[in-house]
Amino acid sequence: MNTIKTTVTAQNLEGAFAGESMAYMKYSYFAKLARAMGDEATAAAFEETAKQEIQHAFGHLDLLYPAAQLNPAKMLEIAIAGETYEYTEMYPKYKKMAIYEGQADAVKEFEEQIAESQAHAAAFAQVLEKAAKRFAALAKVEERHANHYRQRLAQVVAVS
Ligand SMILES: [Fe+2]
Ligand SMILES: [Fe+2]
Repeated sequence: MNTIKTTVTAQNLEGAFAGESMAYMKYSYFAKLARAMGDEATAAAFEETAKQEIQHAFGHLDLLYPAAQLNPAKMLEIAIAGETYEYTEMYPKYKKMAIYEGQADAVKEFEEQIAESQAHAAAFAQVLEKAAKRFAALAKVEERHANHYRQRLAQVVAVS
């Protein structure tokens, strides 16, 4: 059986997730512009629909990243991989093309995003490192508890 990660349906879900996420951002942006243009009713309509797009995107994520298969460390690793892809491959490639096409504003935008993605990856890596230490400390506490129970069990067995 194909797992969801390897199917065309998984790719379609990724595409649908991207589309719904973009719809949320676009409608939020349009709402901001409509409000600045003095059209409160149109701004409210965009905001109301944008909220629904968030739920559509979450629905796709439930299938793409099932909660039962995740834990904080795994989620941090996924986030670090995504940010690392952005600053090592995606934005450098985009920047190169923007330079080639003489799009100075886009070059600046991509350079800023390279720095941002790098900072995000580093911040997530730091959280992951701290979490790993926390898990290690917790494991020690659990081991102490287990040893304590084992000792107690041996005493109970000895007197019975
Ligand atoms: Fe939608
Ligand atoms: Fe980011």
